[in-house]
Amino acid sequence: MLSREENALLTRVGPGTAMGNLLRCFWQPFALASELPGADCNPLRVRLLGEDLVGFRDTSGAVGLIESKVKAVTYPVQERGGVLWAYLGSAQDIPRMPELEWTHVAASQRYVSKRIQVCNYLQNVEGEVDSSHVSFLHSKGAAPDAAGIQDLRSTLPDYMARDRAPRFFVLPTEYGMLIGARRNAEDDSYYWRVTQFLMPTYTMIPVPVGAPVSFTAATPIDDENMMGFTVTWHPDRPLREDEIAQIESWLGVHTEVDPVSFKPLRNKSNDYLIDRALQRSGRSYTGIRGIREEDLAVQESMGLIFDRTIEHLGSSDLAVIAMRRRLLEAVRALAERGETPYESRMADAYRVRSAALVLPREVAWNEGAAEALVATM
Ligand SMILES: [Fe+2]
Repeated sequence: MLSREENALLTRVGPGTAMGNLLRCFWQPFALASELPGADCNPLRVRLLGEDLVGFRDTSGAVGLIESKVKAVTYPVQERGGVLWAYLGSAQDIPRMPELEWTHVAASQRYVSKRIQVCNYLQNVEGEVDSSHVSFLHSKGAAPDAAGIQDLRSTLPDYMARDRAPRFFVLPTEYGMLIGARRNAEDDSYYWRVTQFLMPTYTMIPVPVGAPVSFTAATPIDDENMMGFTVTWHPDRPLREDEIAQIESWLGVHTEVDPVSFKPLRNKSNDYLIDRALQRSGRSYTGIRGIREEDLAVQESMGLIFDRTIEHLGSSDLAVIAMRRRLLEAVRALAERGETPYESRMADAYRVRSAALVLPREVAWNEGAAEALVATM
């Protein structure tokens, strides 16, 4: 449970707010590069951290971002990994871009999507760092759907269904934190899902070692709206056709959006096209089609800005608590002492991956997973 003051500190992101100032210490992904397709293309309206801006590409193809009203301020923009990133902080103190692996691989090795989500950004980040809801919210029968596409959820190891009460472990890192969710596997082993939380709003979703990895970012548009970026990449090879077909089945962590507005097709206004008969049949916990849409339904139905003074957290919420604690520490250090968050200076430390793996019970999880968590680029 948070105090009213803490909840406001974490969720208010506009100009002059403490969290707005913290987020302005980091590069923010704000558009797909394809939204500004070429030199002298049409400009793009962008609302970012409560500011109305205009993105453009000049005659040389370089991207800029300016205030839409007075046009006095120009913010630095970089194009990396098919995404446009802006830095809205102090011009005297521009950090390096985080060296995320997917921003360095060939375009054929990654799939990038963007969606608009109608809620405060923090509700999305809380969902991403929480590994325990997966056993419930995303549980589903094992049958492939009518199109014959294997549902991502049916490939989750049985351990997820058998042990629905994972124990959480959190370790601070130079870029944020490492979150280990431990479930029982066999008598002598545990199934570990290791999520990365990277400051300020990024995560990496646990996947089996060797499979494509997924990254998420939650960029605040303003207090009550956000842009969600999801990237799936393979470190060593182009994504296969079947992997792209899996992504574009929209059953997983990418969701189908309107190509202009980036609004999810299955959204709050149409009840996420929930199928009550499917839900009643027991083949789906929610009756909602995709994993991302199930998350959207939960995160948006909590209200535009969830009131965390009335929540009841338990031991399975350890990761949520730790993530919020780090953000609160960083917000206060900046607001009260002018200290820039150290993570914003650790560009090279962002060369990491997430992992899901079975380890012998006597092996320390962070050591057993260490090799899988390093990006080898
Ligand atoms: Fe989820």
